[in-house]
Amino acid sequence: MATLRDEVMINGMRLRNRIAMPPLTTNYGSPEGIVTDEIIQFYKERSGDVGLVIVEASAVRADGRILPGSLGLWEDGQLAGMARLADTIKKLGAAAVVQINHAGARGFPSSGEMQGASPSGIAFRPDVAPLTINPAQIERLVADFADAAGRVAEAGFDGVEIHGAHFYLISQFLSPLTNQRDDRYGGDARARATFALEVVRAARERLGKSYPILFRFNAVEKVEGGQTREDALVVSRLLADAGVDALDVSLIAQSSWKELEDQRFLVASSAFSKKQPAGANVALTAEVKEAAGLPVIAVGKLGEGDLAGESVRDLPIDIVAIGRQMIADPDAAGKILAGKSREIVRCEECMTCFAAIWSEKPLACKVNKSLPGAARSA
Ligand SMILES: Cc1cc2nc3c(=O)[nH]c(=O)nc-3n(C[C@H](O)[C@H](O)[C@H](O)COP(=O)(O)O)c2cc1C
Ligand code: SF4
Repeated sequence: MATLRDEVMINGMRLRNRIAMPPLTTNYGSPEGIVTDEIIQFYKERSGDVGLVIVEASAVRADGRILPGSLGLWEDGQLAGMARLADTIKKLGAAAVVQINHAGARGFPSSGEMQGASPSGIAFRPDVAPLTINPAQIERLVADFADAAGRVAEAGFDGVEIHGAHFYLISQFLSPLTNQRDDRYGGDARARATFALEVVRAARERLGKSYPILFRFNAVEKVEGGQTREDALVVSRLLADAGVDALDVSLIAQSSWKELEDQRFLVASSAFSKKQPAGANVALTAEVKEAAGLPVIAVGKLGEGDLAGESVRDLPIDIVAIGRQMIADPDAAGKILAGKSREIVRCEECMTCFAAIWSEKPLACKVNKSLPGAARSA
């Protein structure tokens, strides 16, 4: 019977235990997308116990940042900072992976040819006009993902995670709600996965067979017209066939349409609110594992009670990710592993952290006042 303290391997990458810190955008990067001392401190405080750290969404192009303080991997000048970050995490014994992303029309307003990139022109914020991209632009973006993946390896990380979740660009292609194309990139679940699969194959070609590639995607999207469980299982199999080594199974926990003047846009969150039950994505993550035959990462308030332990013991979950609870208490994973969960400083699920970053301030937390950028967030 598996326990949280067991090792796990992903294509040769050894995790000392089965707890991961999932990607958490801090908005602590420099305006040039470079690692800062605040970033180093945030990850240093959280890498001592977990088996895996997945560094926050890092942009494959300057016009693909979620926020002005998102990290970047679009040019070699960003490599030294990323190498320092990889070294910091690995020295503390955790495997280090970076999530690579293009935010598409969900990113903050910036400039650049792909600002607002979108499969079918759905808006996510009132200040960013979506840009429906053509096949030549898609090809360019696939190459940008491959280049960024190459830089992740060059910086010394153990693996890369492709961000196909949360309605950023790849996710928008995967979802029937945001992809209404009638070319080869749109249609049924298989056709909508074309862009994602091209990114995976290009990254694989760049990185070689033995470099771990993880893929994060939405299992379900709690919004009318969003991706279904059946779609997610189809996509899981396709990703496995394309050479992904592990699936990081997230979701859209809540989403709604907003209207402002004559504009309609989609607002979405990747985290369960206070009223949604903990662990609600775990059973579906187990189904994904069964469909794809790959190691899976489950997420969703798994720092509560013994949910993390139960997920690996009773369901065949390989790795549990603990997000907000690691913001609120950087020692949460260590306390869970030591059987001292009762000592965890509890996340109150208040969403102050999301509110801070979405107002373009540095990450801050209601219960943890000593986050590196919190003073600047006030
Ligand atoms: C402040 C904040 C930033 C986040 N940034 C990212 C991100 O960069 N990439 C990503 O895939 N998910 C991101 N997430 C989602 C988390 O990785 C995680 O899936 C979510 O918080 C649910 O897990 P939890 O219930 O343990 O917090 C973020 C969540 C929070 C709270
Ligand atoms: S701000 Fe609130 S939801 Fe976010 S980590 Fe802190 S306590 Fe949890």
